[in-house]
Amino acid sequence: MRFQSNIVIGLLFAAVLFSCKTKNKPAEAAISTERKWWKEATVYQIYPRSFKDSDGDGVGDIKGIISKLDYIKSLGIDAVWLNPIYSSPQKDNGYDISDYENIHPQFGNMADFDVMLKGFHERGIKVMMDMVLNHCSDEHRWFQEAKKSRNSPYYNYFHWWPAEKGEPPYRWSIFDEKAYGWEFNKATNSYYLHYFADFQPDLNWENPALRQDIYKMMRMWCDKGVDGFRMDALAFISKDTTWPPLPKEYNGNWGLYYASGPQLHDYIQEMNREVLSKYDVATVAEAMGDVTRVKKFVDEDRKELNMAYHFEAIDFGYLPGEYKMPNPKGYDLVEWKKVYNKWDSAFTDKGWGTMYLANHDQPRMLTRWGNDAAEFREYSSKMLTTLILSMRATPYYYFGDEIGMSNIKFDKVEQYNDVELLTNYAQVKAKGGDLKRFLEGMKISSRDNGRTPMQWDTTINSGFSNGKPWLPVNGNYTTINAAVQEKDPNSVLNYFRKMIKLRKENEALIYGKFTLADAANPDVFAYSRELNGKKLLVLLNFKRIAAKTNTGINLSKAKVLISNYTTASLDGSLKPYEAVIYEL
Ligand code: GLC
Repeated sequence: MRFQSNIVIGLLFAAVLFSCKTKNKPAEAAISTERKWWKEATVYQIYPRSFKDSDGDGVGDIKGIISKLDYIKSLGIDAVWLNPIYSSPQKDNGYDISDYENIHPQFGNMADFDVMLKGFHERGIKVMMDMVLNHCSDEHRWFQEAKKSRNSPYYNYFHWWPAEKGEPPYRWSIFDEKAYGWEFNKATNSYYLHYFADFQPDLNWENPALRQDIYKMMRMWCDKGVDGFRMDALAFISKDTTWPPLPKEYNGNWGLYYASGPQLHDYIQEMNREVLSKYDVATVAEAMGDVTRVKKFVDEDRKELNMAYHFEAIDFGYLPGEYKMPNPKGYDLVEWKKVYNKWDSAFTDKGWGTMYLANHDQPRMLTRWGNDAAEFREYSSKMLTTLILSMRATPYYYFGDEIGMSNIKFDKVEQYNDVELLTNYAQVKAKGGDLKRFLEGMKISSRDNGRTPMQWDTTINSGFSNGKPWLPVNGNYTTINAAVQEKDPNSVLNYFRKMIKLRKENEALIYGKFTLADAANPDVFAYSRELNGKKLLVLLNFKRIAAKTNTGINLSKAKVLISNYTTASLDGSLKPYEAVIYEL
């Protein structure tokens, strides 16, 4: 959906006028420049299962993270986001929580957590926890009680459809083989709702008792000293419990049908009053939907959250109507740039965005957005790093990308672990679809590609674990690993560090106005960043061939601040995957 009404445009205009009048704002007053640590931070995402295993069980753990605190500090990042480490049957790798207030034994215990938190804080690094609030595990105490009887005090912690009313109104489920969002429970003679897998029952936010329990739990983590939350699937927490039929043309458009529950923002505002406003915590929501919807989460006046990440750019280049099936024609860079431009404008006056090219739900950024062939791996990794760290949004950078890790590209379904992939495989199989084609596509897009263990060094299992890793290590670890790159001043790893430093030293890269340049160029992403008279120009060649850009800016006197080749051109011609930032 797009900006639809004159009212929205009118409001934006009024907001621009208002912010121009606000004191203490630089010349580009229409730009949101209120200083906040989470706007200036680079967030490094750690997938604990795959980061570092300390006890040889093949699964990364908290003590493993502790052993790498100095490495993490050396990157120059300011905050980490940890994927869920709470008690969980781990059927969706921790996004199925059975106890929000405890640590899963494979990861360690609460004492380990406290040591890790202290270790991060001593190094000036903030810690953001993953909060899965739309659903829990079916092994959570609440669900275990709820499913026993309709009279259980926990029955209404979940959404049920009484079987005496017949079949429930159809709901789509993302991790269900039959794509059916209701599961029958004999003891209560009713169906429970699950937007995700059947082992992930949706929590009933319409019930104030559930909400209070959630807030209490969140306060517990804040009191411990955590610095923020990444909120999983938050857009789905509110449901229309009159269960209106979904439109006939409904085809799994989550943003449109599920991310707009009637009381979504009332609940987030309540959470803000009850928890967030009482602490100095930063929040980022997984927020589906268009600009208008996502803006609601982060407009400061609404007192909800700080940041949101959208899916519009990350979902580019897939065939319509098929699950993450890469389009053989690739994607249109001109259209992709338009998306980033649009999302930048969305937050000019209010709110704040995020920038990411990968996370645990995505393949490796190098394979998906760059080029993992040997001759282009380093150039394209550095080019993508330049993009992530030069946008007007908080960068979320996924572990392993700092050394240019690539997709593992499994051949067989048996090699996969991910519930999402296995569900979709089963669906294609049930429909008699082309499984070979499906598996080929998944080599590019599946989530497990981004979940293989961190490649630390050339020792067995890349130094990740002494035991058998839960997911195989990518065989290229003997050449692509942190230890080797540590010694090379021009490595992908050291480029990441330089780029972080550059962002820190140039406020224009954080708060400066973003202006797309040479927008129609099909090969190059070019834009300027401007603050208090300082103007930087970023040129990124996204193609494996040389490209030419015409930004209309004379570069002959420009100073090169960073470049991924030994010499950077001053006439707008770019080598394959070349990235340059100039000061004008
Ligand atoms: C989010 C998580 C993803 C998880 C899903 C269900 O999208 O990022 O990893 O599988 O929610 O919790």
